[in-house]
Amino acid sequence: MPVTSFRLQVNGQEREVEADEQAPLLDLLRNACGLKGTRFGCGTGECGACHVLVDGASVPACDTPAWAVRGKSVVTVEGLSEGGTPSRLQQALIDEQAGQCGYCLSGILASATALLARIAQPSEMQVREALDRHLCRCGAHNRIVRAVLRASGKEAVR
Ligand code: FES
Repeated sequence: MPVTSFRLQVNGQEREVEADEQAPLLDLLRNACGLKGTRFGCGTGECGACHVLVDGASVPACDTPAWAVRGKSVVTVEGLSEGGTPSRLQQALIDEQAGQCGYCLSGILASATALLARIAQPSEMQVREALDRHLCRCGAHNRIVRAVLRASGKEAVR
């Protein structure tokens, strides 16, 4: 497949990348940009492990072609902290000890970040709906939901 160069913004920085436009965004991020925090899980848009933010929306990077992000702003898990300080949401995940193996968390962070940008204080049901497509094989879902609510300033019922 033809390799072309195009511009996009990654984690706040303008980048010109060379990539196969038909290749998944996930390959672009992990290979051309060297950002390994975005995970490959199912590769078919089903597990949520690879989600990143594209213009503020959480999308599966395995199922989004690179051409679709030309000129757009992409934020990966590496771009969520502020100068090395965890974001409020990242800190809440730490505080709730919500990460076990952690494989799913970069994708979950993308969806939860998008949710909190849309709804500052979501209900527990809204959090669960926003994370519905994300699989966590460790079974840490309840802790993750509590962390998102904590980040929003709410407490979940334990
Ligand atoms: Fe993209 Fe599973 S790896 S949704």
